Amino acid sequence: MIYLDNAATSFPKPERVFREMEAFVRASGANPGRSGHHRALEAEAMIDETRRLLARLFGCSRPERIIFGMNATDALNIAIKGVLRPGDHAITSVLEHNSVSRPLNRLERDGVITLTRLPAGAEHVIDPEDVARAFKPSTRLVALTHASNVTGTIQPVAQVGQIVRERGALMLVDAAQSAGVVPIAVERDAIDLLAFTGHKALLGPTGTGGLVVGERVEIAPWREGGTGGDSSSPIQPSEFPHLLEGGTPNVFGIAGLREGVRFLLEQGVETVLPHERKLLMAFYGALGDPARFSWYGAERAIVERGAEGRVGLVGINHDSFAPAELAAILDGQFDIAVRAGLHCAPYAHKHQGTFPQGTVRLSVGIQTTIDDMVQAAAAFEEVAGG
Ligand SMILES: Cc1ncc(COP(=O)(O)O)c(C=O)c1O
Repeated sequence: MIYLDNAATSFPKPERVFREMEAFVRASGANPGRSGHHRALEAEAMIDETRRLLARLFGCSRPERIIFGMNATDALNIAIKGVLRPGDHAITSVLEHNSVSRPLNRLERDGVITLTRLPAGAEHVIDPEDVARAFKPSTRLVALTHASNVTGTIQPVAQVGQIVRERGALMLVDAAQSAGVVPIAVERDAIDLLAFTGHKALLGPTGTGGLVVGERVEIAPWREGGTGGDSSSPIQPSEFPHLLEGGTPNVFGIAGLREGVRFLLEQGVETVLPHERKLLMAFYGALGDPARFSWYGAERAIVERGAEGRVGLVGINHDSFAPAELAAILDGQFDIAVRAGLHCAPYAHKHQGTFPQGTVRLSVGIQTTIDDMVQAAAAFEEVAGG
């Protein structure tokens, strides 16, 4: 099997992630913070260590301000709905996943906020000057993806962060496709809220993710409930992480996420992107006739710039096949897993002219090999050749 759907979720996880999950939940899988016995304390210590590892990975000096949730979608909803107030203005872009667009669109439709959706340039990048120009006195939030799951392009979040900081608003970055791939430094880059998912490049299991909440952020919780400590308080405690973490956390999942993040920190996150870019170049280089496919600008970046400015995914098409048809052939005849369609980001496809059919997306990961890419290219050639 050749797995090229890492942008949906990484697979397989490193073996040590599976082993650590099993070992941890068999030995210490109690309810953290709820009881004083040693298994509960071990579970709490494991979760705290995971926060510290993530804080190292994300350049955050306050691990307790990293809160866990189900996935990036959960984190983005917590951020968007917890920060925006009636009468606010928000700025976003056409490159966003539905987990950003839909909550913002609903708040706009319900008359709670006004919304500006910025276009992307020909290279699929948001111009920071456009962000500056879109500002209004009522702008509270700028929500931007770090790396598009459709175009693969990395956005200038540090430059945008500076603009947002100077104007006193909050910057929310969707790091679903960048956490564990692109080095991130939230404090240096003026990122107030960073939503991440645990099951993609952080190599953890599904059902994990979270939100880094900067010190300038005022946020209201929508999930209120038990936090273990201080049960006497009639309302949610105001300190982090309890403010945003009502309910029993995903102990099994976080044990796996901890091991995934350890693995990444040992490997060095700065090694991931060069590896992914080599893989994209290997795929392109192994195609006999890449011009048979439509690349939507990615071809230039891969050939002329060594895939710089991109994460390890590319969406392509062939005139003779609908994306879903090509993906089904690759799956059925070659055991190659790719994703076809709109990838939950319809505005991005409208922007690059691939709406409504979408693209066939290949997405690599830390475990993908050059040989996988050469074999995948041979399969694409064979299908395209007739
Ligand atoms: C850019 C982007 N944002 C958000 C998400 C949502 O992630 P999750 O499914 O983990 O909530 C995805 C998932 O594919 C994504 O690619």
